[in-house]
Amino acid sequence: MDLKSKVVVITGGGSGIGAAMARRFAKEEPAGLVIADIDLGTATDIAEETGGVAVLADVSDPDANKDLIEGTEDRFGPIDLFCANAGIGMVGDEQSDTSMWNRMWEINLMSHVHAARHLIPGWVARGEGYFLVTASAAGLLTNLKAAQYSVTKHAAVAFAEWLAITYGDSGVKVSALCPQFVNTPLLEGSEAFKALGANHTLEPSEVADVVVSGLQDERFLILPHPEVEKYFQNKANDYERWLGGMRKLQRTVFPD
Ligand SMILES: NC(=O)c1ccc[n+]([C@@H]2O[C@H](COP(=O)([O-])OP(=O)(O)OC[C@H]3O[C@@H](n4cnc5c(N)ncnc54)[C@H](O)[C@@H]3O)[C@@H](O)[C@H]2O)c1
Repeated sequence: MDLKSKVVVITGGGSGIGAAMARRFAKEEPAGLVIADIDLGTATDIAEETGGVAVLADVSDPDANKDLIEGTEDRFGPIDLFCANAGIGMVGDEQSDTSMWNRMWEINLMSHVHAARHLIPGWVARGEGYFLVTASAAGLLTNLKAAQYSVTKHAAVAFAEWLAITYGDSGVKVSALCPQFVNTPLLEGSEAFKALGANHTLEPSEVADVVVSGLQDERFLILPHPEVEKYFQNKANDYERWLGGMRKLQRTVFPD
């Protein structure tokens, strides 16, 4: 997909990867750029910088997705690209509160379902439309110390994959963006994430460049850290060995 003259929505567009995508996409001269975020202040800053429009939306709310999509289409016409990018990350395990598991599900997975529910019928009728999911390398591999994050990001990849298979022949395109560590407030907020990302953390602007080329190629898997492809192959080729390698990494990074 070439972004020129397209109508684009980015959720979680007020910060990090979403803001970087907004800045990068703006250079491609879209017809409409909607920056949706639960934080209207940051969304407004990015909208002013990129010539976009800020919208307050909590993507975990089904009605907020409906309003975001209908409001965008009333203003600009049909949405060409919807970037389901908003997400939260934190360390946690099986002992974490159920409410924390539920919040992660709602934002990291169910928001994609709520958006797709309103987008897919129109896209199938038009024979085109593009859904970009910001998942994570944790959705292909795992993220040490972060059970909810790993599980919900696997689910995000699975849903993207399912959409690609189910609606691909109807003209709907889907990509799953699966970066490892990116220098954003999400990473800053977690010592465990920071420790893991120490070796190869990308800047959000670098990720945004890779996204634009991934969209141009209409590739399903967009991997800003190319080594993730090899790790994913290693996992599929020898799961037992991969699990052993991950345990070894955990002992090295978190010796206590
Ligand atoms: N930073 C990383 O290392 C990394 C790696 C892989 C994937 N990701 C994914 O990238 C996406 C963007 O994260 P980021 O690193 O840019 O983090 P970030 O915290 O900088 O940005 C996330 C944005 O989402 C918004 N948001 C949070 N909950 C929301 C909600 N319910 N409704 C609407 N907006 C909401 C936040 O206000 C924020 O502006 C997330 O899905 C994250 O899981 C991040």
